[in-house]
Amino acid sequence: MQAIEVIQIHKTYQNGKKVVTALQGIDLHVQRGELFGLIGPDGAGKTSLIRIIATLLLADKGQASLDGLDVVKEYKAIRKRIGYMPGKFSLYPDLTVEENLSFFATIFGTTVQENYALIKDIYQQIEPFKTRRAGNLSGGMKQKLALSCALIHRPSVLLLDEPTTGVDAVSRKEFWQMLKQLQGEGITILVSTPYMDEAAMCDRVALIQNGRIMRTDTPDNIVASFGEPLWSIGGASMHQLLQVLRDYPATKTVFPFGEVCHWTSKQVDTNIQALRSYLLQRGLGGVEVASVAPGIEDVFMKLMLEHGA
Ligand SMILES: Nc1ncnc2c1ncn2[C@@H]1O[C@H](COP(=O)(O)OP(=O)(O)OP(=O)(O)O)[C@@H](O)[C@H]1O
Ligand SMILES: [Mg+2]
Repeated sequence: MQAIEVIQIHKTYQNGKKVVTALQGIDLHVQRGELFGLIGPDGAGKTSLIRIIATLLLADKGQASLDGLDVVKEYKAIRKRIGYMPGKFSLYPDLTVEENLSFFATIFGTTVQENYALIKDIYQQIEPFKTRRAGNLSGGMKQKLALSCALIHRPSVLLLDEPTTGVDAVSRKEFWQMLKQLQGEGITILVSTPYMDEAAMCDRVALIQNGRIMRTDTPDNIVASFGEPLWSIGGASMHQLLQVLRDYPATKTVFPFGEVCHWTSKQVDTNIQALRSYLLQRGLGGVEVASVAPGIEDVFMKLMLEHGA
């Protein structure tokens, strides 16, 4: 039995007189024990999908189950089995760190002592602040407390909605290490993120955009699917680079990528010499052109184009 099974889920919202489509035919299968990433930008549908799996939102159409239990008919049983960490602050800001943890233990009919071993490594990092109100914690500490609270009843499946958004780079890295450890404890994890670089930490990822899953695979296979030479072009103003490269007849795709552009050619054998001459002719003789390995973000951009986004 799979930990999470989602079949053709559709979801729309009514926004005044306008119908907003959030999910349009989502299929998702997460194996037991997997660390699975749901990767997509703002508005892609991540929260809607996670809330449907967490039994907190009803889909318009389709089916979803967790540990073989139906999200509509067996929602009560599911709620006992999941640990859910919503994107927005889920703690009680006026309760202290330790009060928050005891509160979550109590509502799940357990005690902090009973499952302390599971959260020990995470909770110890915030224990020095256990008498501090949760509202006065830093972002990274709030995140650790929220994770401890989501784990205190030893869930079989953890659902984490953008747990690393707005958290500093060091805390993000630590957080993923904690997730790896929890996976080692046999917990299945579905985690959403807008950060493409976090895909590498997952066993498999689904790339989601406009309420559709564009691809599901291991990070390595996704990167390998790029399947054509990719070039990094930089050293001039982004605005100018984009304009000049878009005018170039051999350009297939060009995207801003940090401080440089990522560029692909329509030609099978990219003629870099011709590109350099063209750039020189357009007053961009000093720019650097280098071959680069594609990443998840490059595949994401490519898939978005193919899906007509
Ligand atoms: N309650 C709501 N009413 C109307 N539209 C909504 C509602 N919730 C979400 N939407 C819309 O549904 C789409 C998907 O939103 P969702 O929150 O699921 O995406 P997301 O990937 O979690 O994005 P983010 O967290 O960055 O906002 C978006 O277009 C969003 O504006
Ligand atoms: Mg969201």
